[in-house]
Amino acid sequence: MTATLIDGKAIAENLRARIGASVAALRAEHGDTPGLAVVLVGDNPASQVYVRSKARQTAEAGMRSIEHKLPAETTQEELLALVARLNADPQVDGILVQLPLPAQIDADRVIEAIDPAKDVDGFHPINAGRLATGTGGLVPCTPLGCVTLLKSVRPDLAGLEAVVVGRSNIVGKPMALLLIAESCTVTVAHSRTRDLAAVCRRADILVAAVGRPEMVKADWIKPGAIVIDVGINRVAAPELGEGKTRLVGDVDTKGAMATAGAITPVPGGVGPMTIACLLANTLTAACARRG
Ligand code: GUN
Repeated sequence: MTATLIDGKAIAENLRARIGASVAALRAEHGDTPGLAVVLVGDNPASQVYVRSKARQTAEAGMRSIEHKLPAETTQEELLALVARLNADPQVDGILVQLPLPAQIDADRVIEAIDPAKDVDGFHPINAGRLATGTGGLVPCTPLGCVTLLKSVRPDLAGLEAVVVGRSNIVGKPMALLLIAESCTVTVAHSRTRDLAAVCRRADILVAAVGRPEMVKADWIKPGAIVIDVGINRVAAPELGEGKTRLVGDVDTKGAMATAGAITPVPGGVGPMTIACLLANTLTAACARRG
């Protein structure tokens, strides 16, 4: 058996096209355009690439992209003052402060300063609490994208055994909550889990979000399982030439293809869905603010 590849790139393009149509309709109805403010502090190269992609795709969806690039020495007070200005700016519907932040800034304090109604990352404790209690709110983009990918191959997830490997606030915890909301039976595994391979083998749905290249092996996967690989790890690729690198996920994809029922590739799986869901959250925030 060979697993179905879940084409995140195509699913994300389709979602972005639908968001673009809704943005056009909103403009026709209200005469204004949703705006997303992205704040980048410092010069982390990976963050610069993400922020450029976000800005381009925001503009392609017909929304206003407002970029703030601050120097690496920015103080916490300066960043909090910018967040306060963006909270008060009626042109701004969504605010995203790119992580990680430089060491002198307390990321939790910055996240808590963002207006929850504009928190398109879904990281504010109010939105995290809303997700935990099933009372709405903005949902973190990567897990939201993962659920969309899962439902593309299996529309009804109720009753399935799901294992989430990773317990971060950005992916693991919200992913587990979204799967509970889909009526899955959910286990959250992590670096201290005993016999991780045996836990993973129970999973009808396996979500790997640990940030360790190809850690999940083929024989950890239950035959027919749906595997969502959240990892994006750059590794050396001497076979491509000296000094070359390539991207791999947290799952040994090649090995897993023989056992899984469906799997997301890296790149081209979860990655494109994260930005598409960011645009979806910005549209959701814009519509909510307009009533
Ligand atoms: N850094 C890596 N992923 C993310 C994300 O989803 N949101 C923000 N703000 N920063 C990130």
